[in-house]
Amino acid sequence: MWEARIKTPSIEATQYISSISFDDRIALDVVRVNIAHLLMLVKQGIINVSDGRAIYGVLKRLLQGFSLRPQLEDVHMHIEDEVIKEVGVSVGGKLHTGKSRNDQVATALRMTAKRVIIELAHELLKLRETLLSQCEKHINTIMPGYTHLQHAQPITLAHHLLAYHDKFDRDFKRLLEVYERVDESPMGSAALAGSSFNLDREYVAKLLGFSKIEENTVDAVSDRDFMVELAFAAAMIMIHLSQIAEELVLWSTWEFGFVELPDAYSSTSSIMPQKKNPVVAEVVRARASQVLGMLFSALSILKRLPLSYNLDLQEVTPSVWFSVEETLRALRIIKGVIEGLQFDVKRMHDAAELGFSTVTELANEIVRRFNLPFRVAYRIVGRLVKEAVDAGLTPNEITSEMLEKVALCEGVLIKIDEEVIRESLNPEMCVAKCKVSGGPSQRSVVDMINGRKLKLLTDSDRIIELKRKIEEIDLQLESEAKRLGAA
Ligand code: ARG
Repeated sequence: MWEARIKTPSIEATQYISSISFDDRIALDVVRVNIAHLLMLVKQGIINVSDGRAIYGVLKRLLQGFSLRPQLEDVHMHIEDEVIKEVGVSVGGKLHTGKSRNDQVATALRMTAKRVIIELAHELLKLRETLLSQCEKHINTIMPGYTHLQHAQPITLAHHLLAYHDKFDRDFKRLLEVYERVDESPMGSAALAGSSFNLDREYVAKLLGFSKIEENTVDAVSDRDFMVELAFAAAMIMIHLSQIAEELVLWSTWEFGFVELPDAYSSTSSIMPQKKNPVVAEVVRARASQVLGMLFSALSILKRLPLSYNLDLQEVTPSVWFSVEETLRALRIIKGVIEGLQFDVKRMHDAAELGFSTVTELANEIVRRFNLPFRVAYRIVGRLVKEAVDAGLTPNEITSEMLEKVALCEGVLIKIDEEVIRESLNPEMCVAKCKVSGGPSQRSVVDMINGRKLKLLTDSDRIIELKRKIEEIDLQLESEAKRLGAA
């Protein structure tokens, strides 16, 4: 390209603007894009079959893998350089007819993004499976549910972990929704204005495994929404992982004592021999912040770009790959941590019993037995808790006499059996009575687990199907090359 319009740029400038250091990720997809474009040029009679065959031979070799030379600006120039070096400019120089690095990079990024989404989705499936198997072990493990990190109402550990499962299920769905928007081919947009050559955009899209073309050529070369959406999907996953991590840090403290982390995912102190530090959880929590930063970086690069292609767009790419890489690592490592968690079932149960998380149920029972407005029952129980706390009593030590007395203070005369109080304040009973769908009762939790196990199977089929479609691309290109006589 040099010494025509401009002299060869300085090494300093070339290296400064180069994307070579992160082009390796898309390199093979760029080769595939070149092959599809070449086959289209041959099919349309824009270049002849024998030239097509010569160029195809080089591209096919590159598809086996090649290393990027840092002195070239990017992977696109690298590939053209290889082709021209091997078959000469009189033939190789025809490859770039009707295409630009702008549509080429956008297309290759989309192909790579599709693979990445499948990888992320796959790791999410594995994490969901791990969570569900912990849930199955803890359907009857009572624990206090929290709001404001204060004891709220009793739930079960299975119910709690199912909440995380459902967040990751949503992350999974989000990825597949992003996939749909990624699944459009910019090829044929060339620099921005399409081409006066008779290109067949739909044909290239189909060869590369896309469902359709991205229509407006100006939009197609300037659109990086899909990269930002991918960065957001990754950031949301990281936030969910960080929330789990935070909880594991808390729960493994002496104060909580709910869980023992696996040794394989812990560390110790160089001076304090007693220490077992939740280091993996801590690093996940911090990496989540870095991934958030990358999302913001990508968004703000796009913020003031005029249409259409600007080299700023290139700089979105490494932030997104960083996010994805860290998210994959975090998904894998948190899965390992969760598999090895040992919960202190008794301690969790005691916390639910002794922390007054059961008293909402006592208020509910008073409503039902004495046909009182909830707010009145709420006030009676509120007074009761205050008295118990002031007297240093546990919920087990609350008597019917105490309850009747505080009821009178609220102007209500009731007689209540001690038995009713004991039952209402029993965390197992509270959980069992919360039969509302999606609630903590054993029945509802078992239903949720079963439903989610089934969904895991259909989700996994969907991923296998998408993966197959992508893996078919190389065969598809090859058989089309043969059909056209280019192979
Ligand atoms: N390396 C570039 C990127 O990643 C490829 C497109 C360069 N286009 C250009 N007109 N300089 O976006």
